[in-house]
Amino acid sequence: MEVVILAAGKGTRMRSALPKVLQPLAGRAMLGHVVDTARALEAGRICVVYGHGGEVVREHLGMADLLWARQEPQLGTGHAVQQALPHLSDDDVVMVLYGDVPLISATTLERLQQAAGGTRLALLTVALDDPTGYGRILRNPAGEVVRIVEQKDASEAERAVREVNTGILVAPVARLRDWLSRVGNDNAQGEYYLTDIVGLAVEDGVEIATVQPSAVWETLGVNSKRQLAELERLHQRNIADRLMDDGVTLIDPARIDVRGQLVCGRDVEIDINCVFEGRVELGDNVRIGAHCVVRNAVIGAGTRIAPFSHVEDTIMGAACMVGPYARTRPGTVLGEDVHLGNFVEVKNSRIDNHSKANHLAYVGDADVGQRVNVGAGTITCNYDGANKHRTVIEDDVFIGSDSQLVAPVRVGKGATLAAGTTLTKDAPPQQLTVSRAKQLSIAGWKRPVKKSS
Ligand code: UD1
Ligand code: CA
Repeated sequence: MEVVILAAGKGTRMRSALPKVLQPLAGRAMLGHVVDTARALEAGRICVVYGHGGEVVREHLGMADLLWARQEPQLGTGHAVQQALPHLSDDDVVMVLYGDVPLISATTLERLQQAAGGTRLALLTVALDDPTGYGRILRNPAGEVVRIVEQKDASEAERAVREVNTGILVAPVARLRDWLSRVGNDNAQGEYYLTDIVGLAVEDGVEIATVQPSAVWETLGVNSKRQLAELERLHQRNIADRLMDDGVTLIDPARIDVRGQLVCGRDVEIDINCVFEGRVELGDNVRIGAHCVVRNAVIGAGTRIAPFSHVEDTIMGAACMVGPYARTRPGTVLGEDVHLGNFVEVKNSRIDNHSKANHLAYVGDADVGQRVNVGAGTITCNYDGANKHRTVIEDDVFIGSDSQLVAPVRVGKGATLAAGTTLTKDAPPQQLTVSRAKQLSIAGWKRPVKKSS
């Protein structure tokens, strides 16, 4: 089976410079979701019909195996599918999908594919309480589909029909090629309607099958930011339900956003308003506090991330305590039982087992050993204005508060840096290194007093 995805529509109602099918749902372009689903069907070729936004759409998706067909001008859905025909082979069947119907499921599509077999025309239809705007499925008294009529072309009686066309269908390519060549544009919108192939199939004696989606929301399309937001909430709620079914505790399933893939172990607990982006793995017994953003991360078993923390491209070992208000930036690797407290930022650094930086510190481009204590206000000065340099802090080091480590520099095993040290040369192991003026007290010194005028 081959797949054609219609994505040429302008999307005027989005009122956006970004083409409609590139508007993100759960952090991924709507069209990307549809392509993913098509791939899950193990389709042969996937051809995207594009128009508005042209090259931007192609570049954004950047998937080398997709085929592209340009539709310019846009003369209707039938005309759109026609643009893809050169890419399709006559001995195959084709499924038509829509770039702005992002939540259609592979399960539903597999049933449609089966209903089509190799010879039938299969339509995905759905009964709506309010069918306004949709094409209506017209059936004869025997219940067989005879044609589809668009809202704008329908009579009063036809508009009363509640079974509507979702637009999604499967057809044999050779037949489709013939039907599309026979479709005209003599209708209310002056468009070449894909839906007119149904009447032609009936004329040709081709059997028509209809299939209903597993859930109505799968077939919802997006034309406006409001609809996009509605689908986003629906989709997020579905993800939340799946997580809970897998045993994850969500303090409020309405207040979690997963924009990518979230994989959880046993007894994971996630507090409110957390955002997960990219691929995130949470080990057994991980707890994520309220208002955290976690992107591309692997979090070890039993680790706690306290509220308002921001974690990006990070690997954390087991039993760490991070936050509140901690920030780990790309390249952060924490061992086991590492503590990062409030206002601690770590970047491109490895911090080994049992080490702690509990209060306002910057650890950048550093290798920190085991059982190290990084005092409050400590900063690795990794950047000289032109280049970045590494700081090495060996095992069992104690760094006093408010120290600056001017990289490249090394602190030897077991060394202690006195508070306020500005370290510009390596500190030898096991010794105390101090770099500050000696403390001095002046006896008999008097405070200045205000002159009386
Ligand atoms: C279409 C169907 C209607 C169905 C409805 C479901 C036709 C004639 N009508 O109506 O029966 O109930 O979808 O939502 O097919 N597109 C192109 N090129 C074009 C025109 C459209 O690529 O020249 C794409 C759009 O980007 C969109 C899709 O096709 O993704 C549907 O187009 P739209 O104009 O929204 O169709 P409807 O009038 O809603
Ligand atoms: Ca239309």
